Amino acid sequence: MPPVGRGVRRATPVPDVREAPAESTARRGRLVTLEGIDGCGKSTQAALLADHLEASGHEVVCLREPGGTAVSEKIRQLLLDPVNDEMADECELLLYEASRAQLVRQVIEPALERGAVVVCDRYFDSTYAYQHGGRGLDRTLVERCNELGSCGRRPDVTLVFDLDPTVAFARATQGGRDRLEGAGLRFQERVRASYLDLAAKEPARVRVIDATGSADEVGRRALLVLADVLR
Ligand code: TYD
Repeated sequence: MPPVGRGVRRATPVPDVREAPAESTARRGRLVTLEGIDGCGKSTQAALLADHLEASGHEVVCLREPGGTAVSEKIRQLLLDPVNDEMADECELLLYEASRAQLVRQVIEPALERGAVVVCDRYFDSTYAYQHGGRGLDRTLVERCNELGSCGRRPDVTLVFDLDPTVAFARATQGGRDRLEGAGLRFQERVRASYLDLAAKEPARVRVIDATGSADEVGRRALLVLADVLR
């Protein structure tokens, strides 16, 4: 009997077709993240966007950060509870990253592998804007932590809903202030400036959407940008 794996078989390797579907499915999944200061209206936009994408036939997984898994929801409570006012900035940073890593591994990666569009209300650009821009933690340090917390998963597109901080802050704090909102209006102004910096640095990924006007008007602006990216 001739030896197996010699001659013709070896000279012309045949691609393993069993691997093809998994790869192409992974490439079809998209991670869309929504960002902006507190009260900018992005949660309303996340819901509108998800409805629109579903109506166009996509599987949509709608998430918000921090949260989205049992572990991440517990971390969310720690982060937002105003009682925890002694929390160090470094502790805050690591808790956001911990919550995110769990969400990525447990929910986002499997969804992307199925080919879904993941719409995430906040992601690692929030950490850049709030913990670096707002709190003043070192930029490189925050970027390195973001790499870890996101398990290397970068968004395909990020929509930053941009609104005057005075207007947004008044809206966000109508029903009381969580721990982050307790940091005040000046803090939100620094966060906004950081988002705009990011958009200038990464214009292909980070798109600024004017968030003034009705939810429908803002939604139409967002869809125009998104259609471009999802095509
Ligand atoms: P949430 O009530 O979900 O606010 P919003 O509706 O504006 O998204 O609270 C999340 C808060 O956590 C918000 O103030 C932003 C802040 N945050 C950070 O500071 N860093 C982060 O990495 C993330 C994801 C959120």
